[in-house]
Amino acid sequence: MSENIDSLQHESRRFAPSAEFAASAQATPELYIQASADPEAFWAAQARELLHWHKDFTRGLDWTNAPFAKWFEDGQLNVAYNCLDRHVEAGHGDRVAIFWEGENGDSRAITYAELTSEVKRAANVLIGLGVKAGDRVAIYLPMIPEAVIAMLAVARIGAVHSVIFGGFSADSIRSRVDDASAKLVITADGGWRKGKISPLKPTVDAALAKTGTHTVQNVLVVLRGGNDIDWVDGRDSWWHEQLEAAEPEHTAEAFGAEHPLFILYTSGTTGKPKGILHTSGGYLTQCAFTHKYVFDLDAEKDVYWCTAAVGWVTGHSYVVYGPLANGATQVLYEGTPETPHPGRWWEIIEKYRVSLFYTAPTAIRSFMKIGRQIPDRFDLSSLRLLGSVGEPINPEAWIWYREVIGAGKTPIVDTWWQTETGAIMVSALPGVTTTKPGSAQVALPGISIAVLNDRAEHVGHGNGGLLVVTKPWPAMLRGIWGDPERFIETYWEKFDIPGAESRRMYFAGDGARLDEDGDIWLMGRVDDVMNVSGHRLSTAEIESALVSHPMVAEAAVVGAADEATGQAVVAFVILRADQEDAQTPDEASTILRAHVSEQIGAIARPRQVFVVSELPKTRSGKIMRRLLRDVAEGRTIGDTTTLADTSVMQIISDKLTGGVRK
Ligand code: WTA
Repeated sequence: MSENIDSLQHESRRFAPSAEFAASAQATPELYIQASADPEAFWAAQARELLHWHKDFTRGLDWTNAPFAKWFEDGQLNVAYNCLDRHVEAGHGDRVAIFWEGENGDSRAITYAELTSEVKRAANVLIGLGVKAGDRVAIYLPMIPEAVIAMLAVARIGAVHSVIFGGFSADSIRSRVDDASAKLVITADGGWRKGKISPLKPTVDAALAKTGTHTVQNVLVVLRGGNDIDWVDGRDSWWHEQLEAAEPEHTAEAFGAEHPLFILYTSGTTGKPKGILHTSGGYLTQCAFTHKYVFDLDAEKDVYWCTAAVGWVTGHSYVVYGPLANGATQVLYEGTPETPHPGRWWEIIEKYRVSLFYTAPTAIRSFMKIGRQIPDRFDLSSLRLLGSVGEPINPEAWIWYREVIGAGKTPIVDTWWQTETGAIMVSALPGVTTTKPGSAQVALPGISIAVLNDRAEHVGHGNGGLLVVTKPWPAMLRGIWGDPERFIETYWEKFDIPGAESRRMYFAGDGARLDEDGDIWLMGRVDDVMNVSGHRLSTAEIESALVSHPMVAEAAVVGAADEATGQAVVAFVILRADQEDAQTPDEASTILRAHVSEQIGAIARPRQVFVVSELPKTRSGKIMRRLLRDVAEGRTIGDTTTLADTSVMQIISDKLTGGVRK
């Protein structure tokens, strides 16, 4: 097997920043120059400029115990104070921090002063329940302001939060609560989702009722759904009653820069979820820096909206910590994009005059599928920048996003990062970068990225390989909770070349290509790369070619065992709404196979193209190719418990065994 991933995609469209945007942009080309001269000094300067330190630090990076990094270690700060009190003290108490929109039409505007006082009360409640610095608190809430308040209250007292996405099962809650030995769970009776109340507390009850002892002493319950719930006396209490009774004042104490801030579980491709550990000073520095420069934030004027749920890292870094550290005004929305009508998101943008908008390619493609007539009904003229995260955004979706949502004028920032990296690593800088649809572009100032082959050699421009971070960065994970060996094995052993560089290079698990200009194109998880007749092909490129056909809304590609070629390309496509009846699935398959051949080359032509109505996705919107591989290879479908909609695989496999498959 050749160690390079073959690269077949070409893109010639370019979008230079407008003179007007560049003139007032936060980012300037000097950032790259300053950072490359001395990355550690650059980050230290950002830490001092963007954050308030109770005690200044004297050291930047300590990498002597690699791969366990320490940043700004002898400095002290309080993360919540940085996100709240200091803005009030600076005279911005009346600025709205959160415009909250409930799915059922409820809404609330919460100023920085109000948010600060709620967090102070909540901090006192936690202390009253016996939570101390270093203790773990599990949070299982809908997208309501209390989710943000709870996270900040935990951070304020130096405890460690573990936010569990509101769609996870009792088993997932229990395994996370047990792994972190959480002392307290904060949940709600229920929340609005798809037009009805989705209960949450019953799932927490079920998690805690499972056999075996657990460490949870109390459950705090936010009243949101009004649904009937069971009550365990002595263990459960209402959030609102506790807050009303709590002392209003709380002084934020300083903690060391390396004090743990949160654990966030990410499911690996196999095995038990990994508790990714993040700490305080370095994490908050990079969140604040990237939020300001990648989104071009003007905290006085902009209204920012990141659609991610707080249960994902995007919700941690770009709903809670980045925007609030920067004193931004943002929208928080409880529900799903199509409830009660498919234009709900655009209606919210119109209502709050959102100017900076950050979402995922899977959402963009689902809007493409429905068609532009929906967003066209709303006034989106307030938008001045659009962001994308979570998966490669194929050029067609990128162009649609810019044209239809961004009126053909907004810069698009495609941001590559991971739960593990804590904050954005690769992205365009708006106002500086000339963007290319589909490319995440280059490493941010202060970040060092390389694309290497299996022997840790640079692949060079025009080639594909493995994405590697070659220098420590402030928001990097500090470990896997309770499992230092797994941390080393998973991320640092791949390029553990004997000698000085040992365990110094972070393997992200993603394939990437450097184009002729040195711009980075993400090509999907390395586990998903296919080997067709000795060529390593990326799923992302073939999916992108499929979606470039006007008939296709979304595509997923997998490699299936093939006698002739080792692996063969098998594609699953969702057609755009207006195309569904235009041709038979067989006709569509013929057209699309030819189209891929034309776009990329015969080597990439799918052996089969299946037209489906849904694709299996995790709750964060990532396609679960492993399950599609099972279908493509005619196996029993594997573990589907992390799917957003567990019925999808049944529908797909019924359809395929129902005659379409040849
Ligand atoms: C993928 C989400 C291409 C990638 C912040 C990464 C992307 C994984 C992009 C992390 C992007 C994220 N282009 N791929 N802009 N952003 N990914 O931990 O495979 O949920 O390794 O963090 O998502 O997912 P996670």
